[in-house]
Amino acid sequence: MRVLVVHGPNLNMLGTREPDIYGSKTLDQINAMLLEEGARLRAEIKTHQSNSEGELVTAVQQAAGWADVLIINPAGYTHTSVALRDAIAALPVPTIEVHLSNVYAREDFRRHSYISPVARGVISGFGADSYRLALIAAARLVNE
Ligand code: DQA
Repeated sequence: MRVLVVHGPNLNMLGTREPDIYGSKTLDQINAMLLEEGARLRAEIKTHQSNSEGELVTAVQQAAGWADVLIINPAGYTHTSVALRDAIAALPVPTIEVHLSNVYAREDFRRHSYISPVARGVISGFGADSYRLALIAAARLVNE
């Protein structure tokens, strides 16, 4: 199984960014955890972070040739990006949307996601474990 994990804007700041909301783990620590979990599941994992919407669209497009599943935390673009949604809608492999925080328990504007209607499922609110749970879900999808 090959899984591409894409992290959106400001997630490079994890560790120091609003730790009461997003936890104290850095993105490097989360990626290391994903590689470890991936090895346990015999999955090949690639990770990519960008603050730029266009670069994220390109990363999603490129998943088509390589990944069996896309896991994406679109971060702030969750609530704004038609372009990212369109890229995911065109992807021939399933997408799992991930959020560290429970976006439904926060400001109203976070309750709307452009991505959820084109995702296979959404995991939100379990901190860094949201990614771990997404990886387990990805393995189930591929073995279905
Ligand atoms: C987030 C939630 C978004 O609303 C926010 O803009 C983020 C991170 C999360 O992981 O909880 O940057 O996607």
